Amino acid sequence: MKRVAILISGGGSNMIKLVESMAGDHPAKPVLVLSNLPDAGGLAKAEALGVPTAVVDHRPFGKDREAFEQALQAALEPAKADILCLAGFMRILTAGFISHWEGRMLNIHPSLLPKYKGLNTHARAIEAGDSEAGCSVHEVTAALDDGPIIAQAPVPILPGDTPADLAARVLVEEHKLYPAALRAFAERN
Ligand code: GAR
Repeated sequence: MKRVAILISGGGSNMIKLVESMAGDHPAKPVLVLSNLPDAGGLAKAEALGVPTAVVDHRPFGKDREAFEQALQAALEPAKADILCLAGFMRILTAGFISHWEGRMLNIHPSLLPKYKGLNTHARAIEAGDSEAGCSVHEVTAALDDGPIIAQAPVPILPGDTPADLAARVLVEEHKLYPAALRAFAERN
């Protein structure tokens, strides 16, 4: 049985879908939900689902990303996670942290990678006149929003879409894609 820790910064809708998916004959179970923001809405939702939670606020560390990541690592340690899922975790991680978890860390990104790495993906796809957007689950490597792609789902961009319209349509697909990708990853790793 693989042990999965999920890192969030916000509402945690992907986290909920991941937690709910890890039931029955699933090869993994959720052991920790960790947020870098104490007021992340996902924390209460994880607790309601019976998953232990932790907070490592990045703000007291200022620009010292490595010190923040040491605290993150210390909070993760007792959970003895085999797999780390980033689910709307909005901090850039350094190469040191990533190398510790390399091959064991997944991320979901709201674009069809390699297009639109970074932020504001939906606005950029609309601005570019694309007919299609989507989401990607990938293994995390040292380069931002890079690393081997595990699964992708396309989503149409409709005339008159605002970034919020598109984000909502993509999120529906994220909620199916991430659980399926995690299951496949846990089965073969
Ligand atoms: C999701 O759309 C996820 O793909 C995105 O943040 C949202 C989190 O929503 N992640 C990124 O942009 C990562 N750079 P959630 O908290 O409801 O899962």
